Amino acid sequence: MDDVDERSTNGDARGTTHETEIKTNVSRGISRVRALGRAIARTTTTTTTTPGVREKREAATRAIERAMDLDSMELSDGRDGVASKDMVVTKPKDIDDADFANYFCTYGYLYHQKDMLEDQSRMTAYHNAVRLNADSFRGKVVLDVGTGSGVLAMWAAQAGAKKVYAVEATHMAVQARKIVEANGLSDVVEVIQCKVEELELPEKVDVIISEWMGYFLLRESMFDSVLVARDKWMKPGGAMFPSHAKMYLSAIKTNKTEQKKQELDESLNVWDEFVANTSNNYGIDLSCMNGEFEDEQREHYLNCSAWCDIHPTQLLCAKPFTLASFDLNKCTKADIAMLRDVDFKLTLFERNSSASGEEVRAGAFAGWFDVTFAGSEANPCENVVELTTAPDANGATHWGQQAFYIHPEIRPSDGAVIAGKFDMLRRKENQRLYSVRMNWTQSTKEGKRNDSMGQRGIVWHIE
Ligand SMILES: C[S@@+](CC[C@H](N)C(=O)[O-])C[C@H]1O[C@@H](n2cnc3c(N)ncnc32)[C@H](O)[C@@H]1O
Repeated sequence: MDDVDERSTNGDARGTTHETEIKTNVSRGISRVRALGRAIARTTTTTTTTPGVREKREAATRAIERAMDLDSMELSDGRDGVASKDMVVTKPKDIDDADFANYFCTYGYLYHQKDMLEDQSRMTAYHNAVRLNADSFRGKVVLDVGTGSGVLAMWAAQAGAKKVYAVEATHMAVQARKIVEANGLSDVVEVIQCKVEELELPEKVDVIISEWMGYFLLRESMFDSVLVARDKWMKPGGAMFPSHAKMYLSAIKTNKTEQKKQELDESLNVWDEFVANTSNNYGIDLSCMNGEFEDEQREHYLNCSAWCDIHPTQLLCAKPFTLASFDLNKCTKADIAMLRDVDFKLTLFERNSSASGEEVRAGAFAGWFDVTFAGSEANPCENVVELTTAPDANGATHWGQQAFYIHPEIRPSDGAVIAGKFDMLRRKENQRLYSVRMNWTQSTKEGKRNDSMGQRGIVWHIE
């Protein structure tokens, strides 16, 4: 297998995420000042060359500055939460402050909706799911949960829906209404600005369409809202678009793990210098914080998963492991809110060596998902459509894949079979974010466990 350098980790934006690390950090609820400092530090070291990223980051910074400054804006013109006519970060009354700052804020921006509209795999899959299954829409009542710019609602109308309720929590609803009107679909599509949890409709619906998926499927927890809508507004026998979802795990080779370890070591060296200088110059000894600083930095460099665009040649297993399978027409919040004690098993390719003759090691686990548009038992789709976010030689969707770095890396010669437990749990401080925990042992293909390796366990945060 050739050595392939991992492609850029500067994917496109999703929710409160990576491409705009400044927004992300603020949204994590970490100390804003600390987060901003780190984000700026990382910005300068990681992403100076990707075209368009700097512009997006600047826009993100402006968004944050404006979001952070809402209080003073309220004072500036006397109108509650309205600063200017393009002030799209205005918080609607039915969204609580934390959820707005952590999650909804960015969706109010056209530049952010554009990131999603530019994802060709996403667009083609949803477009095909609707237009190739026009029978599922013709003459039907449709609910689009989280309509954003209105694109899914408009496709439903173009496929012949009798009525489409397009619900959007943020100010983007105002823009969606204009877009729907400009496309001559206002007689069918009704844009309603509210959280779908607060929605009141005059009738039940035949179809719910929504693009709710976050990184590694579950991040953002938006499916909670879709479930509320399904259970309240869907007619018996109605169909969810998409209707099924699956999550996958594999192991990859990557040069990022060593890089991250080096960055960690560098950061600890800089800290030691800083502690010595602070003592020499100001007579204050901070060395009692050495352990705390190391924990903090280790978590940042090694225990946070990262967006990545994996080339298929990086995969070290012939087949990914299916961690979860959801029937979205039937599943409950308990099914989707967490994955607990999932027994996983990955079999690594053996006797792989790189160009330099070294054994190829697994530097990360990688996770991704796909969703399928198959309709429901009562209303199956004529043409089943799939949207996958699997590693692709042509490049990733804006969801990319999540890499969970493993340090020290796993050597197949220590046992090519990696088996253990996988958990994915919501974070206490922010229910839209998740942590992943994996505990595993290594065995030979014949089932002989390598006791000298013992059991390894790592927790990662998906940020
Ligand atoms: C991933 S975007 C998809 C936008 C659009 N449907 C598309 O496919 O381009 C999700 C949208 O759902 C909205 N949203 C999320 N949770 C919502 C809720 N509980 N009620 C209403 N809108 C919501 C967000 O503001 C965002 O605009």
